[in-house]
Amino acid sequence: MQDIRIAPSILSADFARLGEEVRDVIASGADWIHFDVMDNHYVPNLTIGPCVLKAIRPYTEADIDVHLMVEPVDSLVPEFAKAGADWITFHVEASRHVDRTLQLIRDSGAKPGLVLNPATPVESLNYVLDKIDMILLMSVNPGFGGQKFIPGVLRKIREVRALADRHFEETGHAIRVEVDGGVKTDNIGEIARAGADTFVAGSAIFGRKSKEGYREVIEAMRAA
Ligand code: DX5
Ligand code: ZN
Repeated sequence: MQDIRIAPSILSADFARLGEEVRDVIASGADWIHFDVMDNHYVPNLTIGPCVLKAIRPYTEADIDVHLMVEPVDSLVPEFAKAGADWITFHVEASRHVDRTLQLIRDSGAKPGLVLNPATPVESLNYVLDKIDMILLMSVNPGFGGQKFIPGVLRKIREVRALADRHFEETGHAIRVEVDGGVKTDNIGEIARAGADTFVAGSAIFGRKSKEGYREVIEAMRAA
């Protein structure tokens, strides 16, 4: 198993105190910050943009993992990279030219990742694996925090892990496997055993409403 990363989704944080929330959750043992961008077009919800990323950037040196649930994608990529994104992921369905968008992210200075919705086939990754540093598998339909993990995604995690391992053996290029949606302390072990190494958790962590609570959940997740 690769080194694991726990990436709290600030979608469930207190938006009125976002900088402090970022600082607190990293101080409580989280590895990355997961930043959900929704446009009320690709997904039926509206969240935060590059100016919010720029505002929270000074609060942590941890990687910020920008999950774009927007359509079109390309015009926002340089803006998020400039605002301080370390990773930028987008949905296969949201870009007309997936290969071009991946290259644009790389050229902008961020690490590119591709997101597959629960019903999006693994075959979408064919021919672009060499341009991807992370595969994000949605385990809920994108748009909202606090939804239930879709168990059928476990099989897909296994398939994608095998694909990433084979790619690594052939090329030496490592690809992270991230899972997003409904990740809790009681299912994270199973998700890890299926092959994920990067775990997004929103409501499970920020639902606790205190630094001590964040630490308890993050420690329990790591132990599991
Ligand atoms: C869903 C978002 C997720 C969400 C996860 O569209 O991409 O990152 O915040 O929240 P939980 O962990 O509550 O399912
Ligand atoms: Zn997300």
